[in-house]
Amino acid sequence: MRGMRNILVTGGAGFIGSNFVHYMLEKYPDYRVVVLDKLTYAGNLDNLRDLEQEPRYHFVHGDICDIERVEQVMREYAIDTIVNFAAESHVDRSLMEPGAFIQTDVVGPDVLLESARKFGVERYHQVSTDEVYGEILEGRARETDRLHTRSPYSASKAGGDLMCLAYFTSFGVPVTITRGSNNIGPYQYPEKVVPLFITNAIDDIPLPVYGDGSQMRDYQYVLDHCEGIDVVLHRGQPGEIYNLGTGVEVCNLYMAQLILQLLGKPQSLIRFVADRPGHDRRYALDCSKIQSLGWRSRHTFEEALEKTVRWYVDNPWWWRKIKSGEHYRAYYARQYGSRLQE
Ligand code: NAD
Ligand code: TYD
Repeated sequence: MRGMRNILVTGGAGFIGSNFVHYMLEKYPDYRVVVLDKLTYAGNLDNLRDLEQEPRYHFVHGDICDIERVEQVMREYAIDTIVNFAAESHVDRSLMEPGAFIQTDVVGPDVLLESARKFGVERYHQVSTDEVYGEILEGRARETDRLHTRSPYSASKAGGDLMCLAYFTSFGVPVTITRGSNNIGPYQYPEKVVPLFITNAIDDIPLPVYGDGSQMRDYQYVLDHCEGIDVVLHRGQPGEIYNLGTGVEVCNLYMAQLILQLLGKPQSLIRFVADRPGHDRRYALDCSKIQSLGWRSRHTFEEALEKTVRWYVDNPWWWRKIKSGEHYRAYYARQYGSRLQE
């Protein structure tokens, strides 16, 4: 991909998006990055605070579903590449309020794709998830497998993916899709299991493990994921999907035990609580396709978790502000109040 200069990173104030913005600005001194973000509860300008003086970084407050705003940004910054991270991203919230997921995760990509088509971008990249394959009880999901979504979150993400493929086939928009496994690392909102468990453990609050904790996830370090997206942007083929993960799964109970061990906290903080409805037992990816582009995950789960734990220990300013806020406390009470009392 030659001539890539002006990248629109939608959802760049969220967890993975903000890590990607840092990664790209550091790696490519001739790239300009424009973030378009609605700043929902998950969007946080603290994630980008250190870039405020960076002339190659620009922030625009706006909704990806707002076509006029999107077109204004495309024009003003001469955008040639779109990387879409913007999403409602939490399964538990999708069980509470599915409508917001359909809007941002399906309508949002459609608006961006329409704009990509109109402005003739060099690449539209959709950041998707391994959850679109549904639970994989045996073996590993390949990019050609059928989608078997089971939560409103995964169904919405699958809708976004299919819209991307439709724009490639119908209108020739040069799209690529990555389907990443669970990410961990700095700036992850503490509703997702790893930062939730780490920050609860630091404060000696119980770790609510859903069901029996035997569900399996492939937890990858967020900068490995960012590097994989970079590889697909530069070396991936338009119209193609790439799975992106470590290819190694661990169960939730082991993850919780390791967090407590790393923090020197007692295992008695583990609390088994009522399971998530429709909880997918296992996600597992075959990553040979992206590996054939030369990408390899750099961190094992244990290395990624250790770095992540260290970051939350070192940065209480970042997560204490969130956890003490009205929005977070209301969410926590709704999601865990009765579970923890049972
Ligand atoms: P996040 O919830 O931390 O951040 C989402 C960001 O999108 C926030 O900054 C939010 O303000 C913004 N946003 C939401 N709705 C918007 C809208 N309508 N217009 C503009 N901005 C909007 O999410 P994340 O964990 O960083 O995930 C980023 C992407 O990666 C998502 O598409 C998600 O599906 C995908 N993904 C996440 C994981 C994971 O483990 N977190 C794994 C694989 C794929
Ligand atoms: P999560 O971080 O929500 O990611 P996803 O469901 O998208 O994979 O959850 C990861 C795993 O941890 C999943 O199997 C559900 C489980 N989990 C708990 O056991 N307790 C919790 O409080 C949360 C949020 C998740």
